[in-house]
Amino acid sequence: MQLPFTIDLKDKVVVITGAAGVICSHLSRAIAQCGAKVAILDRDEAKARQFADELNAEGYTAKGFEANVLIKDSLKKCREAVLKEFGKCDILINGAGGNNPKATTDNEYAELDDATKGIKTFFDLDQSGVEFVFNLNFIGTLLPTQVFSQDMVGREGCNILNISSMNAYTPLTKIPAYSGAKAAVSNFTQWLAVHFSHIGIRVNAIAPGFFSTKQNAQLLWNADGTPTQRTGKILAATPMGRFGEVDDLVGATLFLISSAAAGFVTGVCIPIDGGFSSYSGV
Ligand SMILES: NC(=O)c1ccc[n+]([C@@H]2O[C@H](COP(=O)([O-])OP(=O)(O)OC[C@H]3O[C@@H](n4cnc5c(N)ncnc54)[C@H](OP(=O)(O)O)[C@@H]3O)[C@@H](O)[C@H]2O)c1
Repeated sequence: MQLPFTIDLKDKVVVITGAAGVICSHLSRAIAQCGAKVAILDRDEAKARQFADELNAEGYTAKGFEANVLIKDSLKKCREAVLKEFGKCDILINGAGGNNPKATTDNEYAELDDATKGIKTFFDLDQSGVEFVFNLNFIGTLLPTQVFSQDMVGREGCNILNISSMNAYTPLTKIPAYSGAKAAVSNFTQWLAVHFSHIGIRVNAIAPGFFSTKQNAQLLWNADGTPTQRTGKILAATPMGRFGEVDDLVGATLFLISSAAAGFVTGVCIPIDGGFSSYSGV
């Protein structure tokens, strides 16, 4: 991968959750290219190991670990394994997250005749689906932070990067749990940045705009591959007129995790959205 610039992460231990996923596998590779020892965490150990093997075959240093971001004991066990393999965590990226169709309404607006349409309305949203999405994104950021930031206390250059979303600024239609959870992630980023400021741990976030991935495929593409109405609306509301590419996320990520470049930056969330969050639509 051609990096936009390099930062020196030689011998830094970078722990990345959800690291075998679309976005974080790309960020993991970029970070590995900067010399870090990358701990690839995912709930599916085989997937994590397979991806780490790919990075090692490319000449980088990585190891795959099983870690479920919703189970503290799984994270604690993983921390012990990372300590043994690489040493203390310098940088944590909370990448695991996502939406789920169970927490998504069928329509954008409630209408008076909805009961006759056989659709999933706000009233039908499944509590367990809502809890799943809220927990995955918010609790799934908080628990790994509790576990891995203990390694950062009293050491220089340590920091945490969370992944928020456009939903955090203004909620998107249909996905109330994901929107609320990402708003909580942005809010927590600021809270923790303040809380950790006296002990030198920086905490920041990126907010990717619209990326076409498997997570949102059902919302963006019809079964026959044609764009949904939502895709048309997204592109019309993105001044730069396109979906993001994973490459677009690399520069801001490297900047924020670099203590040389962003040593006085904490509590920020950088939108990487082609202007979406700035555009009123007029
Ligand atoms: N894609 C977008 O357009 C977009 C936009 C804004 C923000 N984001 C955020 O960016 C992050 C990465 O998204 P992505 O599109 O790369 O998603 P992704 O490809 O689904 O990657 C997420 C990874 O996390 C894993 N995971 C799920 N539950 C987990 C758990 N309980 N413990 C540990 N790992 C778990 C997933 O495993 P499984 O595959 O087995 O579920 C997957 O490998 C998420 O926080 C997402 O909300 C994405």
